[in-house]
Amino acid sequence: MIILETERLVLRNWLEQDRYLFREINRDEKVMEFFPWRRSHEECDILFEKNRSMIADTGLGFYALADRENNEAMGFCGLAPVDLPNVLPEGAIEIGWRLATRYWGHGYVTEAAWRLIKYGGETLALRSIYAFAVHNNHRSIAVMRRLGMHYMPGHDFDHPKVPDTHPRLKRHVLFRAETDNLTTGAI
Ligand SMILES: CC(C)(COP(=O)(O)OP(=O)(O)OC[C@H]1O[C@@H](n2cnc3c(N)ncnc32)[C@H](O)[C@@H]1OP(=O)(O)O)[C@@H](O)C(=O)NCCC(=O)NCCS
Repeated sequence: MIILETERLVLRNWLEQDRYLFREINRDEKVMEFFPWRRSHEECDILFEKNRSMIADTGLGFYALADRENNEAMGFCGLAPVDLPNVLPEGAIEIGWRLATRYWGHGYVTEAAWRLIKYGGETLALRSIYAFAVHNNHRSIAVMRRLGMHYMPGHDFDHPKVPDTHPRLKRHVLFRAETDNLTTGAI
C-alpha cells in the first residue's frame, strides 16, 4: 500500500523486510536520544504489527519511508491521531518522523513531510497538522522550520507520558502547519 511518492522516496505500509530496520530505529541510542524508553525485540515487533494494521485499516499512521529506487526502508514519516488533552484539540493529527542515523543529512524527511502535509490538506481535508518535540531536539525542530510550520508561543508543555525519572525529556515545543496556507516551497 503506497501512500505517496516523491522524487527520491516512497511512503508506504510496512513490509516484512522492514522488520530489522524498525527494531533498529527503536533501540538505537542516538535515534532515541529524546525518548525515555528503549524497546525490546518483542515490543518492537508488537508495535510493528500495530502500525501495519493501523495503516491498512485507517490509512493513517507512521508509514515506512523507503528509497524509491530499491524500496529499502530508512525509517518512518507519517500522520497519526494524537491524544494529548489540554494540549491539542480532540481529533488532532500529528506528523512525526524517525530515521536510522545513516540516512540523516540528506533532506529525506523534509522531502517526505512536505508532500505529506500537502496530502493531508488536499486528500484528507485536514486544516491543521501538528508536530512537537523535546525543546532541545534541534534536528527535529529544524525539520519543522524547514517545512514552514509555525511555532505556537505559549503552548510549550510537559509531555504527560514522559516519566518524572526523565525531567530533561519532559518539556516540549509545539508547531502547527496550516494546510490552506503553505507558504514554503521547501522541496
Ligand atoms: C529528526 C530527524 C528525522 C531529522 O533528520 P535530518 O536528516 O536532519 O532531516 P532532513 O531530512 O530535513 O535533512 C536535513 C539535512 O539534510 C541536508 N541535505 C542534504 N541534501 C539535501 C537535500 N537535497 N534537500 C534538503 N536537505 C538536504 C540539509 O542540509 C540538512 O543537513 P544539516 O542537518 O547538516 O543542516 C532525525 O534526526 C532523526 O531521526 N532523529 C531521531 C528521531 C527523532 O528525534 N524524531 C523526532 C521526534 S520529535
